[in-house]
Amino acid sequence: MTAPTTAATPPRGAGRQGPRWWQRPWILPLALFSLAFLLYSLPPYLSLDPADARLPSPEGLAWHYPVLVTHIFGGSLLTLLVILQVWPWLRARHPAVHRWSGRLYVFAGIPLVGVPALLISPVSSTGFSTQISNALWAVLWLSFTALGYAMARRRRFARHREWMLRSFALLFGIAFDRVIIILLILLAMPGLESAYGGDEAVLAATIAPAASFLSWVLPLLCVEWWLQYRRPRRRSRT
Ligand code: HEM
Repeated sequence: MTAPTTAATPPRGAGRQGPRWWQRPWILPLALFSLAFLLYSLPPYLSLDPADARLPSPEGLAWHYPVLVTHIFGGSLLTLLVILQVWPWLRARHPAVHRWSGRLYVFAGIPLVGVPALLISPVSSTGFSTQISNALWAVLWLSFTALGYAMARRRRFARHREWMLRSFALLFGIAFDRVIIILLILLAMPGLESAYGGDEAVLAATIAPAASFLSWVLPLLCVEWWLQYRRPRRRSRT
């Protein structure tokens, strides 16, 4: 994948050395948040033992666990690649690394992350609404990623950048999901006795669809807002 800016449109703040890290203060928190998420999410799947999985596979679906593990290992790789892709210094100083890690993001991500996500979505144990949210999330991620790649191939770098930012936002939905779940539990907890009869499982089942939708819709809305109102206005070929 080619760098989202052309020689004619260098990134704002990029001199010969590229922007300094303090001009992009979000890169370190993003990297730390991603690593914390992976350290929490990955270990139950490293043993390759379905009994250790945090997400139990539905009974009678022998293919579910291998597909889930493929998705999770691929997702871990992509989470790390995104940090490289959005790191302005690396894009400015080592565009070849950006291109190759971008190709890996697309060509490993589609078969190892997006397609497996689509396969496991309809059998989610958290109910019909969550299944719809997951399937839509997977279809959009696959579409945005393919569009981002197609735009880079056509050298329409402004469009490429927009679609890849949307793809990254959806990819981070899974890490954001952990934050959303904690917030929704805190919001719903005061009603545990009155609304859910004191049953924490009922409370968890009730908030699951909202958590699923919010975890990818909110990051996507943030990116859309940034693209509409905050990004530097550049004149480049779209
Ligand atoms: C590209 C966007 C992604 C989509 C559409 C997606 C979709 C899904 C779906 C549908 C499930 C099954 C949920 C269920 O059955 O209830 C799932 C589970 C899971 N995914 Fe993803 N995922 C994405 C990205 C990632 C990434 C980047 C990681 C990073 C490691 C990841 C890690 C996991 C894990 C650990 C689970 C198991 C359940 C859990 O612990 O929450 N996913 N994902």
